[in-house]
Amino acid sequence: MLSGGPPSGAGGPDGSTVQGGPHAPETGSGPPTPLRDAREPGPPWHGRRVALGVCGGIAAYKSVQVARDLTLLGASVDVVLTEAARNFVAPLSFEGVTGRGPLLDIFAVGGAAMHILLGGGADCVCVAPATADFIARAASGRASDLLTTVLVATGAPVVVAPAMNDRMYAHPRTRRNLARLEEVPHYHRVGPGDGRLAAGEGSGPGRMAEPAEIVDAVGRALGAGGELAGRRVLVTGGGTREPVDAVRYLGNRSSGKMAAALARAAWLRGAAVTLVTGPTSLAAPPGVAAIRVETAREMRDAVLDIVEEMDVAVHAAAVADYRPRSPLSDKLKRQEAGPGFALDLVANPDIAAESGTRMRSGSVSVGFALETSNLVARAAGKLAAKGFDLVVANPAGRPDAGFEADTNRITILGRDMPPRELPLMSKFAAAWQILDAVEALLPERQEASRG
Ligand code: PMT
Repeated sequence: MLSGGPPSGAGGPDGSTVQGGPHAPETGSGPPTPLRDAREPGPPWHGRRVALGVCGGIAAYKSVQVARDLTLLGASVDVVLTEAARNFVAPLSFEGVTGRGPLLDIFAVGGAAMHILLGGGADCVCVAPATADFIARAASGRASDLLTTVLVATGAPVVVAPAMNDRMYAHPRTRRNLARLEEVPHYHRVGPGDGRLAAGEGSGPGRMAEPAEIVDAVGRALGAGGELAGRRVLVTGGGTREPVDAVRYLGNRSSGKMAAALARAAWLRGAAVTLVTGPTSLAAPPGVAAIRVETAREMRDAVLDIVEEMDVAVHAAAVADYRPRSPLSDKLKRQEAGPGFALDLVANPDIAAESGTRMRSGSVSVGFALETSNLVARAAGKLAAKGFDLVVANPAGRPDAGFEADTNRITILGRDMPPRELPLMSKFAAAWQILDAVEALLPERQEASRG
């Protein structure tokens, strides 16, 4: 089935702003963020074979970036260029970024079974850009050139990134052809976006999804074979802000990067992901439904609204433990406050502890512990005290870990396992390891809840 929109249950339409009230989700469609630029080889792309079909449209120039990123992430990328594509981008460009010569002709000497080898050997076929003509041919099952023949010869997931003029995209025949592709169970659509089109064509829906989004759509097609596929995952992230007066707040240095990495990794593993996040400059990762909040109490309400539906909850947020009891509605003036004043603080709710009591049986709850000293001992205390199944300990006060860094040093603690200390790695790689531990626990939790 084509799945261009958010995963089921993951919320609203594309958009980068909060829509429809304080807890309405937005769905990430992701302009690249620093986090997403960290292209290091790793799962779900590493060691996998991707056939990248490129059709004849102006967006073909962006496909060079797709080929490059997939290669940097560790995939073997075989590019198939249609005849029309070669009017827009040269085969050598793809060879330069993938190290492999693109395939051009179904009738090339020595390549008689190329379509079968490519289609049968690929773990994923991605077509970007997919033009109106290609979509029409693919929808009717034609095998009229190498690319369409590969499609008919593969049982691997197929990611289609349509790109065309907005009137062509709106044409009833194109819509019908896309709907016919949608009937094929292992086809997934990414985009198109709504934005500036080719020179002189203005803007509208039809613009190819950005390379980073296409790379992640391929990642989800490759990564969604495990325990998290089809599960509902909640991630909390960022820091909360507790108002002091009309312009000031109590907050912390959380950037939201760890939570964004967790949300992205869970989505790539096939989950329907909701990210409840405090203020952050990061866009929600593609496919992730983001609910933006400010205070601990707003975060609590947003989490409790949905936590009962969740299979997994990961609490990566740095929640303020206390808030000013009576925030001022005006700006506090220095002349009125004098040389010093005391803030009267009151305890905030413990979101993780409270939501743990509401989660359904068989679900998995993961907490974080950020500590300046006695990291593992304190994290073990939180595992027991807050009813987590797993706790991820990370140190405060280091430039390469915890707050704000793109990397982290984590130790994973579970109830029946010795603490597992991992080396320095990107937050995305750390997120992947955390979700490995969650996937290992899920079947036994589900089994226990049945028995
Ligand atoms: O956002 P980044 O810049 O990427 O930084 C990531 C991070 C350092 C914030 C993250 O990796 C992390 O450690 N998050 C938890 C930080 C924290 O507040 O830890 P804690 O030990 O105070 O809280 C323990 C657990 O209880 C956490 O899962 C926390 O989300 C939860 N909690 C805490 C207080 C509260 N009132 N409600 C909660 O749910």
